[in-house]
Amino acid sequence: MKKKILRIKNLKSKRKLVCLTAYSNPISKILDKHCDIVLVGDSVATAFYGMKDTREIDMQTMLNHAKSVKKSLRKSLLVFDMPYNTYRSIKESKKNTKKVIRDVKCDAVKIESNGRNYNIVKSLVKSGIPVMGHIGYTPQFKKKFKVQGFKNKEEKKLIYEAKMIEKAGAFSIVLECITKKLATHITNSIKIPTIGIGSSSSCDGQILVTDDLLGLSGFYPRFVKKYANLENIIERAVGKFKKDVRKNKFPKKENNY
Ligand code: KIV
Repeated sequence: MKKKILRIKNLKSKRKLVCLTAYSNPISKILDKHCDIVLVGDSVATAFYGMKDTREIDMQTMLNHAKSVKKSLRKSLLVFDMPYNTYRSIKESKKNTKKVIRDVKCDAVKIESNGRNYNIVKSLVKSGIPVMGHIGYTPQFKKKFKVQGFKNKEEKKLIYEAKMIEKAGAFSIVLECITKKLATHITNSIKIPTIGIGSSSSCDGQILVTDDLLGLSGFYPRFVKKYANLENIIERAVGKFKKDVRKNKFPKKENNY
């Protein structure tokens, strides 16, 4: 197993894993100083392009963002989120993931679980491509947002999914919007790290969409903590620029050639 992947796996129960999304070079340069894992998420669809949902983003757009992110990453593990309809069969997933690894030179890919695609994870891992799983609220397959795991049947299904993904050879699993009780149970039942988003501090690591954390996306559900309010900062800066231009205070002598 690749050294970087093994390092992530070995951190389970040693210390928490720090993970964030990135879509561009300037942001990934900053994240690289702090993150174990940087994910080029398909959330770029909604957070960056203002699309209706993550199903709308295509492979070429994701590749362009990932190449930009890769340029400034030195330490963090780079994971590419496979877009919707790019891993429907073993053949399709192999062809597309190979292109991703070749073009981006990322370390791994993430695949959302639909409760049936364990064979895809298994075949990718077998062919040497490290895979991160994703269960719970999986936006590519579940249209309506719902916290997962309140019902007994749901709990059993998600525990089974996590175990099957681990068995298929994934090196970690994202748990999205799962109850604390279930996230704790899954984290204690598998040997690979769980990365939580909206799934409590019981997980082995945490991931957030960086634009949400920075207060730039306008999307602030209960599970997001806004660590900054970039929307306000940008608003104020742009307002000052407007005032300066209108009052002929910018550009000044020192800005001229
Ligand atoms: O696309 C994304 O940003 C994700 C994270 C929310 C895990 O899948």
